[in-house]
Amino acid sequence: MNLRRICVAAAGIVFAAGAFAQAANWPTKPITLVVPFAAGGPTDVVARTLGVAMQKTLGQTVVIENKLGAGGTIAAAYVARAQPDGYTFFIHHNGMATSPALYRKLSFNPLTDFEYVSQAVEVPMTMLARKDFPANNYQEFVAYLKANQSKINLANAGLGAVSQLCGMMFEKALGVKFTAVPFQGTAPAMNALLGGQVDILCDQTTQTIPYIKAGSVKFFGVTTKQRIKALPDAPTLDEQGLKGFEVVVWHGIYAPKGTPKPIIDKMNAAVREALHDPMVMKRMADLGAEIVPDSRMSSEDLHTWLKSEIDRWGPIIKANGAFAD
Ligand code: MLT
Repeated sequence: MNLRRICVAAAGIVFAAGAFAQAANWPTKPITLVVPFAAGGPTDVVARTLGVAMQKTLGQTVVIENKLGAGGTIAAAYVARAQPDGYTFFIHHNGMATSPALYRKLSFNPLTDFEYVSQAVEVPMTMLARKDFPANNYQEFVAYLKANQSKINLANAGLGAVSQLCGMMFEKALGVKFTAVPFQGTAPAMNALLGGQVDILCDQTTQTIPYIKAGSVKFFGVTTKQRIKALPDAPTLDEQGLKGFEVVVWHGIYAPKGTPKPIIDKMNAAVREALHDPMVMKRMADLGAEIVPDSRMSSEDLHTWLKSEIDRWGPIIKANGAFAD
């Protein structure tokens, strides 16, 4: 072995020993969980619920940082470039898989620029309208939308958001085009719906169920193929006539590429424990979210799942011609 090789090998051993020591003590300070949408919205609700439970396992505070904009891609780019020291994590949904098709110039690669911790929950979506919308059932809703499409404002959380994806799929299924009104999350989009400034919104049950139950919005169906336990009397869009319509949101947890594997493993264990915490299970069930099965909680599975979702949504988005840039 020549001297250069010996030095490189020694540096590698020192680095590995450093990473091992860092991982052995981890975490020694609060952890940041970056949320790519507004506080109070559906992604934020999942992040904060998990964060509270994870604190019990990790012995450190999980600080939620809402980094807004561009349908979640600003936050994803930020995390891709963050220090891989085990103190920055990221929760994101299907937007990790749809953004490569939506943004031709994306500054991160969802499949190579991250470490993959675990999937967390699956969440149905709900089709809503403002309370005074002139329709009282699904058939009247669709008839009004088709007759007045140029006047309809569809709120969403930007290109890359699942509210945008659901709205796009809904427009395609009805053969109409509405005016999109983007917000930095569906929390402000919901406020606009409640205030009557926008007409319709497709949003996750983790935000919408309390408003549906309170009757403060009009509700025209869920986006899953089967009815959901949290709203057992609510028909699906599929059963009301939109055959095959399905949008299910899945959330995954990521870290910057290079975060030491022992830290990813410890974080994975903390996420798993949080997902089995009775407080988390009850809150998620009340809000219509399903904890993913244990078989989907490995880091390998998240990477494989993400790849399959990129392959699935890419052609659909490209066929629809929706580009952000
Ligand atoms: C979305 O539409 O992607 C989400 O609902 C955004 C959010 O969590 O606000």
